[in-house]
Amino acid sequence: MTDLIKLRGVQKYYGDYHALRDINLTIRAGEFFSLLGPSGCGKTTLLRVIAGFEGVSNGSVMISDKDMKDVPPNQRPTNMVFQSYAIFPHLTVAENVAFGLRKSKMSKAEKADAVAEALKMVGLDGYGKRAAHALSGGQRQRVALARALILKPKVLLLDEPLSALDKKMREHMQVELIRLQRAVGITFILVTHDQEEALVMSDRIAVMFAGEIGQMDDPETLYRRPKSRRVAEFIGKMNFLPATVTSVGESIGLDIAGFGQTDVPQDQAPEGAKPGEAAIGIRPETLAILFEGETASRHEAPATVDEVVYYGDMTYYDVRVKDVPEPLTIAMKNLIGRPVLEVGAQTRIAWDERAIVVF
Ligand SMILES: Nc1ncnc2c1ncn2[C@@H]1O[C@H](COP(=O)(O)OP(=O)(O)OP(=O)(O)O)[C@@H](O)[C@H]1O
Ligand SMILES: [Mg+2]
Repeated sequence: MTDLIKLRGVQKYYGDYHALRDINLTIRAGEFFSLLGPSGCGKTTLLRVIAGFEGVSNGSVMISDKDMKDVPPNQRPTNMVFQSYAIFPHLTVAENVAFGLRKSKMSKAEKADAVAEALKMVGLDGYGKRAAHALSGGQRQRVALARALILKPKVLLLDEPLSALDKKMREHMQVELIRLQRAVGITFILVTHDQEEALVMSDRIAVMFAGEIGQMDDPETLYRRPKSRRVAEFIGKMNFLPATVTSVGESIGLDIAGFGQTDVPQDQAPEGAKPGEAAIGIRPETLAILFEGETASRHEAPATVDEVVYYGDMTYYDVRVKDVPEPLTIAMKNLIGRPVLEVGAQTRIAWDERAIVVF
């Protein structure tokens, strides 16, 4: 994939407020890229900088190797679907979509064809004459998408396009968006504060905190090898345990509170890790409760059940392990014949050093 968008040393101030702090990123042509982060971290600002609605205080935005410094939004190969998508309720669906073409020199017939094609793309074939106010939330979202797609932008910028939808519709539209992106081959940059949405949809994700990128990786690397505690905490759930790095060499020697000594390959620890105080992280689904007759394939520890949360398909246990300061959360599938333990039950847990991340 060729590089399409390059941001180098981008800084953005609103008055005294430092909204973007030295953003460096490259987005490839045809990529589904997401900006993920908590409210106020600068996601919308970064999208608006790429679209040209905001200038930068420092640094550069290049698209297709061209500096965008003096290029206004309507001359950039980008189109944006805004956080609160503005559909005109008094117009028809077709008129709403055609609004994207208001400045184009196409003939009436060409415009009608383009509208029909865009509606087909978003699965609203035959909805053109409907009044926009008579649509569901998901359908309105598709109209907003069709209006952005009709100009055939190289890059589609989507600012929390699904946040107004209920869970079912949001999941449905996530799949639709992935399919659409693959079909049209346009580069998508999606802003979301929903980590699950970012993991499901993206080729790569940039996790942002307070105007900075904390980590940029593909979903699996981000989940399995978070580089910092704040990234680990933002993406999914992670148990943290105090530990000591006892040796650094081919592998990293660890002494973990409650778990004891083990060692892990270097790629499970930060670059340049040194002996001394550290912490390790381990995900709830990589720990396991050992039921009667079961033995751990790697390591085990005695534990007491502290809390039980039943989800139907899963049960989440909080367990106490001797010398571990905080209870550990363990996610267990409710397989056939497997009991749900009660608070206070004595049990054993299994852990595996391959699932450990050192911080
Ligand atoms: N025009 C502006 N003038 C001053 N401050 C602004 C302006 N726009 C945004 N900010 C501030 O910059 C920070 C980043 O805002 P931004 O809208 O980019 O956040 P966000 O990550 O999109 O958040 P959300 O998830 O809530 O939409 C916020 O603290 C916001 O208050
Ligand atoms: Mg925003």
